[in-house]
Amino acid sequence: MFKKILFLILSFAIFSFAFGDNSLTFTQTKVKEWDNGNHVQWEVVLVNTDPSKRSITDAFIIGNENFKPESIWSLETTQDNKYHLPSYINRYGLKFGSNLTFGFINTINSQVTFTVSDIKF
Ligand SMILES: *[C@@H]1O[C@H](CO)[C@@H](O)[C@H](O)[C@H]1NC(C)=O
Repeated sequence: MFKKILFLILSFAIFSFAFGDNSLTFTQTKVKEWDNGNHVQWEVVLVNTDPSKRSITDAFIIGNENFKPESIWSLETTQDNKYHLPSYINRYGLKFGSNLTFGFINTINSQVTFTVSDIKF
């Protein structure tokens, strides 16, 4: 019985990883900058591009070392500069082909790259 449960958990984890990278696509746009580039506003559009066309209910979004936001909106903060999708997405899901736009003001004038993990369907 225990072995069976463990196997189910493992297959779910591998499945998520296999599709994780392709399921959310980012498009970043610099909106404006001021204060000699010490404040830069970005808009990021996340599109559900899941190869299996499932709805996404949550994911972790993690910025790289260039990510030092002064403020961020339309994502929910967890600890350690890790974010997850807002509660209405947790509840209703982000349908295949739909998008979520979030924004932030960064204090470093470099492109931030985001890593997505733990996508939940
Ligand atoms: C995001 O969704 C809106 C509303 O459905 C749509 O108008 C817009 O074109 C979408 N943008 C992208 C990049 O998919």
